[in-house]
Amino acid sequence: MNFKGRDILSTADLTKEDFLEIMEVTGKMEELVKKESVSDLLSDKIIAVLFMEPSTRTRLSFETAVHRLGARPITVSSAASSSAAKGESLADTAKTVDGYVDAIVVRQPLKGGAKIMADAAKAPVINGGDGAGQHPTQALLDMYTILNEKGSLEKLKVAMVGDLKYGRTVHSLSYAMAPFSPKEYIYCAPDELQMPEDIVADMEKKSIPIKKTQDINEALQADIIYMTRIQRERFEDPAEYERLKGSYVLNRSLVEKGNKDIVIMHPLPRVDEIATDVDDLPNAAYFRQAHNGVYLRMALLAMITGRA
Ligand code: NCD
Repeated sequence: MNFKGRDILSTADLTKEDFLEIMEVTGKMEELVKKESVSDLLSDKIIAVLFMEPSTRTRLSFETAVHRLGARPITVSSAASSSAAKGESLADTAKTVDGYVDAIVVRQPLKGGAKIMADAAKAPVINGGDGAGQHPTQALLDMYTILNEKGSLEKLKVAMVGDLKYGRTVHSLSYAMAPFSPKEYIYCAPDELQMPEDIVADMEKKSIPIKKTQDINEALQADIIYMTRIQRERFEDPAEYERLKGSYVLNRSLVEKGNKDIVIMHPLPRVDEIATDVDDLPNAAYFRQAHNGVYLRMALLAMITGRA
């Protein structure tokens, strides 16, 4: 499938073949970086990196990807520093930036906001996180990490733990792994923060066995345990956040009671849901996961600009 000009808005829009192609190009980008660190593949391209919500990894790894491809970024790093602060609509921002660049990466707080921008812009748009909606590039780098750590994406038991309601990464990961015949998804969360019903229904339609639990020990029997932060900024009631924060803390003694080959992942930033005594375990993949973000984002940028 030719990716040239294509928007990357949600993992629900991608096929198994798309995922495999993206994994393959990501592998090539990793080799490229290890060989020559900066290429001239996109040296005639300018990429907009518009971040209207806080970010460390996603924005910096996109910018690193842009530089390593020899392209140039124009960047907005907060809503306060763009015309969003003056009340400009997402569609108007998109139509304007569209005239400046070859591709647009956007993170903003409205679920569906990246789609609004993609509909308004001719240039391809990559969703870097749309509120509590989706975060497809995170799920794709998560897949690349799983492939590296496990050697395959097929037939895995994947546990997702924490804030499954507001956590967009686990929404995207659920759709991303779905074509690879997961043995089971274990959704481990307090009842109030369980996976949205529409996503559970979509997974059931794809015949994926789902187990909902509040017990992290069940999650620790999986092949992959994907921890998430309780998404404080998405709660309407701060008292509810106070009640639910700290629901799950994975520490070394808990890990030692689980599957000894488990791969521990986290999109980061962590607050307190993984104790630092887990970091030295070979199972802890979350910093390797963060580094993979650069290769994956290079791959996507090269693909949507028609250069890979
Ligand atoms: C995630 C996000 O922004 O959704 N972070 C990231 O992109 N690595 C997860 C989070 O903020 O909890």
